[in-house]
Amino acid sequence: MKNETGRSFYINTFGCQMNLADSSIITAILRDVGYRVAGSEEEADIVILNTCAVRENAVERITHYLQFLRGAKKRKKSLLVGVAGCVPQHLKREMLEMFPAIDFLAGPDTYRTLPVLLQDAAAGNRPAAFDFRIEETYAGIDPQRPEGVGAFVPVMRGCNNMCAFCVVPFTRGREHSQPFGAVMDEVRRIVDGGYREITLLGQNVNSYADLEGGRDFASLLRAVSMEAPGCRIRFTTSHPKDISRDLVETIAESRNICSHVHLPVQSGSTRVLGRMNRGHGIEEYRDTVALLRSRIPGVSLTTDIIAGFCGEEDEDHEATLTLLREVRYDAAFMFYYSPRPGTAAWKTLEDTVPLEVKKRRLQEIIDLQLSVSAGLLQEAVGSVVEVLAESESRRSAEQLIGRTQTNRAVVFDRGEARPGDLVRVLISKASSVTLSGVNKGVLPVFYS
Ligand code: SAH
Ligand code: SF4
Ligand code: F3S
Repeated sequence: MKNETGRSFYINTFGCQMNLADSSIITAILRDVGYRVAGSEEEADIVILNTCAVRENAVERITHYLQFLRGAKKRKKSLLVGVAGCVPQHLKREMLEMFPAIDFLAGPDTYRTLPVLLQDAAAGNRPAAFDFRIEETYAGIDPQRPEGVGAFVPVMRGCNNMCAFCVVPFTRGREHSQPFGAVMDEVRRIVDGGYREITLLGQNVNSYADLEGGRDFASLLRAVSMEAPGCRIRFTTSHPKDISRDLVETIAESRNICSHVHLPVQSGSTRVLGRMNRGHGIEEYRDTVALLRSRIPGVSLTTDIIAGFCGEEDEDHEATLTLLREVRYDAAFMFYYSPRPGTAAWKTLEDTVPLEVKKRRLQEIIDLQLSVSAGLLQEAVGSVVEVLAESESRRSAEQLIGRTQTNRAVVFDRGEARPGDLVRVLISKASSVTLSGVNKGVLPVFYS
């Protein structure tokens, strides 16, 4: 189906990296039928919000925006507004009643139908598509990525874990992995496109399973690392219960797989983890951390924490603080618990912790983690690190910003380096969130 009008679209993306990757897929699908990418939302004929439903403020976050777009539609009658991603998948047609500005809705497995939805929307029918398609991995679509140094590759979608607090299994459906061959084709296109970093994505990436060839995640990761020897390889998110020995060895052996594992723990208390249905206790988690640290020298760990989950007592909260002190994560995403309609916790557990207690506990967690992160950055002063230059720093055109393979941001003097180069940097200073240092030269050979 070709659209001859050349109407333009603009996508505004919220939420996780998977949504960013999906926006590149949507862009490819729409461009393929003749729509153009608009430079800004003011110019666009179609505005699409790609949304996240994971925490309570999901709807509030887009309410203002949809009100603003309602105003914009009064000025430009032909403007079409669509909502994609996890919020419409969660709320379904209710969204059409809540927001008169919306012309169409599309859940995460339905993006191939967007050209039809758009025609239907232009005819004023307010179409909505929410089917889960277990076979849909968007294999064969060449995502239209933003320019840059790094590229995301969603290798699996959905989640079978059913953590009690989490809406993702309801917004993304059951796990479905992209066939091995399709991932490798995409990796080759990324290498040809000159990218320097590849991030393999999945809600639970280490449960990747190639149905035809029987490959698991470690095997996929090894193959990607060999196919793209000039790129850094990252992956996220890993579920602690699915970190295999083979995966740890794969990271340890491959020079281009980054020594960074995002390992969400959620809570430091086994009792709370049980209620969360995480499938492991805190001792098993500690064992996994010990294994990673012993096999991958200098590995950086980051995590997610939820404060104030149902039934969390002071001693459970203390256990989380103890874990943070002990593991010394490089960084953490920290939230207080918010019940999400439809989840097991929302249905069966009482939200016992008062909001002010949740907030206080969260603040204690944040304060502690910030001091741990700052301490780790301070310890890096004086070391020489390899930084993949990403872009000009916001403060000065004479400086570049990039990341170490442990995912720390580093600002340094540009010298001969350009974005995409791997640069040796002597760390001279640490602020509470970034490192800065002196350019010691571009590394001529990449990883191969
Ligand atoms: N797949 C990833 C997480 C996806 S959601 C994983 O398994 O770790 C990202 C993070 O949001 C979660 O790790 C959790 O810390 C947080 N989160 C999810 N649901 C939440 C809720 N109801 N309230 C507060 N935080 C939540
Ligand atoms: Fe949600 Fe748990 Fe699946 Fe992560 S593993 S997406 S937290 S259900
Ligand atoms: Fe949010 Fe959906 Fe990602 S709920 S975290 S955008 S999978």
